[in-house]
Amino acid sequence: MTFGIVAGPPTKGLGLLTLRTNVWSGTIALLDELYVEPTRRSAGLGSDLLELALEEAGRRGATEFEVEVDEPDTDAQRFYARHSLSVIDPESGDHAFIARRQITNP
Ligand SMILES: CC(C)(COP(=O)(O)OP(=O)(O)OC[C@H]1O[C@@H](n2cnc3c(N)ncnc32)[C@H](O)[C@@H]1OP(=O)(O)O)[C@@H](O)C(=O)NCCC(=O)NCCS
Repeated sequence: MTFGIVAGPPTKGLGLLTLRTNVWSGTIALLDELYVEPTRRSAGLGSDLLELALEEAGRRGATEFEVEVDEPDTDAQRFYARHSLSVIDPESGDHAFIARRQITNP
């Protein structure tokens, strides 16, 4: 399932999320997109959208929340860490990685 959240009107920012089932964790929410219009940044709107995304994902049954962050994007890592989204597992201290490849359909 895919759903979106919007700041506005007029639209100043948005988030897009997908929910998927997982054999170990029940339902996991993935934040596919979070965007705030450049002239509106650094005023807390991105944080408000992220908190709304977390709340709405929970309301829809998700028990985990994920977002992909590139290693050099330390601004985004700091931003997400402020909302307790970390690339380090708090229990084991392990660093999370995602391995991926393209699939070519016949
Ligand atoms: C990330 C984003 C949604 C934050 O929105 P915002 O309204 O500025 O968020 P807030 O005001 O709540 O927080 C500002 C923080 O976001 C940080 N940030 C994270 N990613 C950023 C980015 N790609 N560009 C600019 N700032 C970013 C800022 O550095 C700032 O943190 P700081 O005060 O510690 O320097 C916004 O910067 C954006 O739309 N960026 C482009 C799209 C993007 O990179 N999305 C996330 C991909 S993982």
